[in-house]
Amino acid sequence: MGFVYIAFILLQSLSGTRDWSVQATVSWILSEYFGRKNISIVAEEDVQTLSTPDSRSLLSAVVKTVNECLAEAPKYGLQSPARELGTSEILEAISRCNSTGGPTGRHWVLDPVDGTLGFVRGDQYAVALALIENGEVILGVLGCPNYPLKKECFHYHYKVSTPKLLLQPCSDTLEKGCVIYAKKSCNGAWMQPLVHGDKKLEWPNSASLIQVSSIDDPAHAIFCEPVEKRNSNHSFTAGLAHSVGLRKQPLRVYSMVKYAAIARGDAEIFMKFARTGYREKIWDHAAGVIIVEAAGGVVTDAGGRPLDFSKGVYLEGLDRGIIVCSGPILHEKIIGAVYASWDSSNL
Ligand SMILES: *[C@@H]1O[C@H](CO)[C@@H](O)[C@H](O)[C@H]1NC(C)=O
Ligand SMILES: *[C@@H]1O[C@H](CO)[C@@H](O)[C@H](O)[C@H]1NC(C)=O
Ligand SMILES: *[C@@H]1O[C@H](CO)[C@@H](O)[C@H](O)[C@H]1NC(C)=O
Repeated sequence: MGFVYIAFILLQSLSGTRDWSVQATVSWILSEYFGRKNISIVAEEDVQTLSTPDSRSLLSAVVKTVNECLAEAPKYGLQSPARELGTSEILEAISRCNSTGGPTGRHWVLDPVDGTLGFVRGDQYAVALALIENGEVILGVLGCPNYPLKKECFHYHYKVSTPKLLLQPCSDTLEKGCVIYAKKSCNGAWMQPLVHGDKKLEWPNSASLIQVSSIDDPAHAIFCEPVEKRNSNHSFTAGLAHSVGLRKQPLRVYSMVKYAAIARGDAEIFMKFARTGYREKIWDHAAGVIIVEAAGGVVTDAGGRPLDFSKGVYLEGLDRGIIVCSGPILHEKIIGAVYASWDSSNL
């Protein structure tokens, strides 16, 4: 798990180079570990933009960042490269992540920075890595550098223009940042706080089990959804929320931190209804799904079927939207409400 942790150190200190730097770093480490010829990585970034003459300074920043990051690898029980990696090795590491997944074999699935807008705004974002074996997610890791460790630390931000709650990061860096992970053969989902600054670094030093919330009364449940309207139909989810008796304001959160919030019991429901024609990508969900399920939650499409990670880069056959719940009672209610309200909407 150390490699995801490394990705963080790097995330804390840079801006423009982040996606490529994280992808190059994770790709390099996985390739060293499992053998370059023997690894399939599905990831968001391609190498085109970085290879143009205009991107020379961006590329050299990526090279510098990746090398700085990999130099820290031994702190996490991993090996650094024998010498600094050159430009071509780094471009190669990025372009190696060109797999399209599929129903057979093992595929790593990486979203180097999920929630770019959240990152830019100093709000929530995640590094997401999952392993799919014969179409099934068997490992998921979510790094959430701005996620408050304790629920009491949440700052609900009441914006005048959009009168809804936003999950804001804590101002005290010692109180935020965690890596959440789950593995198929092991019971449960785990959370490891992120170590900052001069604190003694040990990995994994203090991981603890996390669990979904036990609330099953909609009147007390909190639901999360994407911050941006273009990623999910807010008026449709508001209608669903009303019809199942949800009373609280939605918690709008950037990135896969929404899955983390359900797994950790900070919220009970996550609903997403993308516009017609939008195809959900596997890297935006794989890690979150296995983590929520391992923590005791339920994840399906709006028709109640499990998400299918075996069809390549996209979640093919997804029925309307994604419903993530802390337990079966809430899940059944939401699915029922989708059926009841679907005909009357023009989604
Ligand atoms: C390649 O990976 C498979 C499992 O996915 C493993 O059985 C095999 O030994 C690996 N080969 C090398 C050269 O690492
Ligand atoms: C992926 O990139 C490698 C070079 O990095 C290349 O050898 C391979 O053919 C590419 N595969 C696909 C599916 O494009
Ligand atoms: C969002 O859902 C509402 C129904 O709840 C529907 O009237 C509206 O057309 C939808 N908007 C889009 C962009 O799909």
